[in-house]
Amino acid sequence: MTVLDLDDDGATDASRRGAPGGPGQDGGEILCRDLVRIFATDGVEVQALQGLNLRVEPGEIVAVVGASGSGKSTLLTILSGLDTPTGGTATVAGTDLLAMGPKERVAYQRHTVGFVWQQTSRNLLPYLTARENVLLPLELAAGSRRTRARRPGVAPMRPALATRSDRARRVDDLLDLLEVGHVAGRRPAEMSGGQQQRVAIAVAMANSPRVLLADEPTGELDEATSVEVLEAMRGVNRETGVTTLVVTHDPTVSEHVARTVQIRDGRTSTETLRRTETDEHGRARHVSEEFAVLDRVGRLQLPEEFLTSLDLKDRVRLALEPDHVGVWPHEPKEDR
Ligand SMILES: Nc1ncnc2c1ncn2[C@@H]1O[C@H](COP(=O)(O)OP(=O)(O)O)[C@@H](O)[C@H]1O
Ligand SMILES: [Mg+2]
Repeated sequence: MTVLDLDDDGATDASRRGAPGGPGQDGGEILCRDLVRIFATDGVEVQALQGLNLRVEPGEIVAVVGASGSGKSTLLTILSGLDTPTGGTATVAGTDLLAMGPKERVAYQRHTVGFVWQQTSRNLLPYLTARENVLLPLELAAGSRRTRARRPGVAPMRPALATRSDRARRVDDLLDLLEVGHVAGRRPAEMSGGQQQRVAIAVAMANSPRVLLADEPTGELDEATSVEVLEAMRGVNRETGVTTLVVTHDPTVSEHVARTVQIRDGRTSTETLRRTETDEHGRARHVSEEFAVLDRVGRLQLPEEFLTSLDLKDRVRLALEPDHVGVWPHEPKEDR
């Protein structure tokens, strides 16, 4: 069943429930409004994002799926602070991504977001063990806090991780949480792909970011290992409450998360919400329902199969009914 979810900024009723401020207010941990990214190479313009709207609530885990070239990586690169959008607004954990200066950008990448990429080689340093890889971002943060602490008027480093043994304990806790404590002393080449990605999640979580971003973290893994890594991400989200956005080509991902957002042509087109219901015999049953996303000015994308099956193109007739909107193909002969 496909129904419209009337909403002003790409949020769903389920995601909006409990959101501070309610609809239209800044309560979301990730808020993208009319996000545009245009790449211009050799005089050719590519609109990778064409007015994308997305809202993710604090502590939520959301999957983003879409065909190759639909703009998923462009979105994640912007949210990770590595790229700036051409237009629109993007706010993550209260930081305006279009207004960040170079210093804020470094702090943002180090403390506000953690990221996991598809290529395992991009996540881990090959000559360091799993333990050393997770320790590295902690040492970097401690180093910069020590430098900051020497300057007057700057907050001293958080006492919890001030000592080497605190940091070592944090590394062990993270490796245990990701169930890779037994490979702590191994280098990436001595680990399986799934183990490498779970260590990569530990690295991303080292400095307790508010938001965890992952771009196709299971792209190089087989099916069984992909499920393991997705479940590990869900476990981290559940245990730490970190807001999580995971991009994946894996169509079965909606079985692992409560909300899946589909991107088509640089825009969020549909959302799938999954919930558990109890039937009349008291048995738990998973129900998933797909919604079209309606943006603030009323635009929505009709699914490809609707377009082809009714030969809808160029223009359609709309009719407002008491409880729904009808869409009909335009038959030119009617005008005569
Ligand atoms: N740095 C870039 N320069 C030019 N075009 C780019 C660049 N990055 C992405 N694109 C284009 O933007 C579109 C979206 O790409 P991308 O975000 O990588 O999609 P996805 O991750 O969904 O496969 C594609 O047409 C791609 O070719
Ligand atoms: Mg990509």
